[in-house]
Amino acid sequence: MSFCVAIDGPAAAGKGTVSRAVAEIFGFGYLDTGLLYRATGAKTFEGLSPIEAAQSLTAEDLQRDDLRSGDAGQAASRVAAIAEVRDALVDFQRAFARRNGGAVLDGRDIGTVICPDAEVKLYITASDEVRAKRRFDELIEAGEKTTLDKVLDDLRERDTRDAARATAPLKPAEDAIIIDTSDMTIDAAVAQVVELIKARTV
Ligand code: DC
Repeated sequence: MSFCVAIDGPAAAGKGTVSRAVAEIFGFGYLDTGLLYRATGAKTFEGLSPIEAAQSLTAEDLQRDDLRSGDAGQAASRVAAIAEVRDALVDFQRAFARRNGGAVLDGRDIGTVICPDAEVKLYITASDEVRAKRRFDELIEAGEKTTLDKVLDDLRERDTRDAARATAPLKPAEDAIIIDTSDMTIDAAVAQVVELIKARTV
C-alpha cells in the first residue's frame, strides 16, 4: 500500500525536522529531495555541467559531507532552475513517493509536480527572520563561519530564485494545508501534522 505525504515550503522552515519525525512515527520512508539538488550542485564544483551531474547522480553522491553548507544550498538553487536537471530527478522521486509502506517527501514541488495526487499535502513556512535564525544556528553547529545577516540575505536570494523560476517554482499546491511555524515549537508542528495524517488514514 502506498501513502504519500508531500511537504513543500521555503528554506529552513522546519520541513526536514517535521518530515523526519512524522516518517518515524508512521514508519514511512523519508526523502529529503533538496539533497538531490544539493548533490547535483556540489558535483558542478568539480567541473561537471549541471545536467551531466544530475544524470549521473549516485547514492554515494548523497553521502558527501559538504551538502549542508551555504555554498551547496546556493548551487542547488541554481541548478534546480534548469528544466533538464529537474527532469533527470523526477522518476526517482515519483517511485519513492509511491513505494510500498508510505513515504514522506519534502521539497519545493512535491505537491505540485512530483506527487500531485498525494494523500496529504502541506506547505510549511515561517517568517524570514525565524528561518534565518534556525539556519544560522545549524550552520554554526556544523562549524561554518557566517553571520545572521548573510544567512538572511542567502535565504531571501534562494527563495526569490526558487519561486521565480519557470519550471516547478516554489509555491503551495492549491489544495495544500499551510502551516506557519514562526511561533510554534517543532513538537507542536509535528503534532499538528500527525493529526492531519491520521484524519486521512482512518
Ligand atoms: O531544501 P533545501 O534547502 O535542501 O533545498 C536546496 C535547494 O534545492 C533549494 O534552494 C531549491 C532546490 N530544490 C528544488 O528546487 N526542488 C525541490 N523539490 C527541493 C529542493
